[in-house]
Amino acid sequence: MKILRTVSELREWRRAVPPGQTVGFVPTMGALHAGHLKLVEEGRRGSDQVVVSIFVNPLQFGPKEDLARYPRPFERDCELCARAGVDVVFAPEVSGFYSPDHATYCDVEGLDKHLCGASRPGHFRGVCTVVLKLFNLVQPHQAWFGKKDIQQALILKKMVSDLSLDLEIVLVDTVREPSGLAMSSRNAYLSEDERARAASLYRGLSKALGIYQSGEHNAETLKSVIRNEIEQQTRIDYIEIVSQSRLEPIAVVDQPAVMALAVYYGNTRLIDNAIISFPRASA
Ligand code: PAF
Repeated sequence: MKILRTVSELREWRRAVPPGQTVGFVPTMGALHAGHLKLVEEGRRGSDQVVVSIFVNPLQFGPKEDLARYPRPFERDCELCARAGVDVVFAPEVSGFYSPDHATYCDVEGLDKHLCGASRPGHFRGVCTVVLKLFNLVQPHQAWFGKKDIQQALILKKMVSDLSLDLEIVLVDTVREPSGLAMSSRNAYLSEDERARAASLYRGLSKALGIYQSGEHNAETLKSVIRNEIEQQTRIDYIEIVSQSRLEPIAVVDQPAVMALAVYYGNTRLIDNAIISFPRASA
């Protein structure tokens, strides 16, 4: 496995990939867990070459967010990638990736109005900008993203479609701990007690999904089912049911939708969701 630390090294590698070979790409911010490894596994299956980027992107963090303390276990991440059959890890320094006078950004308007877009202004602009730049460098045929970050995934799909990028975005199911807690690099911040309490997020989503499947389509009712199941001292950022097409809140679940939530345990912000692919549903 190659570890490439600069844009020019990556360009050189990419130019040498034979034209008949396919390149798969898994962009990450490192602190890899089973969810990332599932993306790599899918990538491995579908591509001749698999590239994983490890880059904690400052553009997508707000001024009061966890950029400085975001976990960066780089050696461990590289070992996991090597074991998973990754061909290239691309891990640039921030200073080598963004020039000091970087001034170009990518905004996908509309889909970023609600959910995490409302709570984290500028977040998706940062995500789209870094992913577009990475796509330009890696030139992948396919790129894999987790459904846990469903808003991110749908925004990036829209970016790819609007800008006619010649690649396919593939979404992969959320990987969960045995308790149901969605795998996230930020789970590392949780105390044992918080981790146990955070299992209530999935319980809430699963219960609401069950109730939806048995015929309850009123969004307020479904949201209150989730809220009642979530452990009481949890600070809720949002619990929303939105359409998949516009990511806008809906009153009645009569179209493909997403039940999504974001909560805080101390300073740790966790998100999760259940996707309702009308008329069936899956968590
Ligand atoms: O999902 C993530 O880890 C990040 O948002 C991504 C897509 C790697 C962009 O920095």
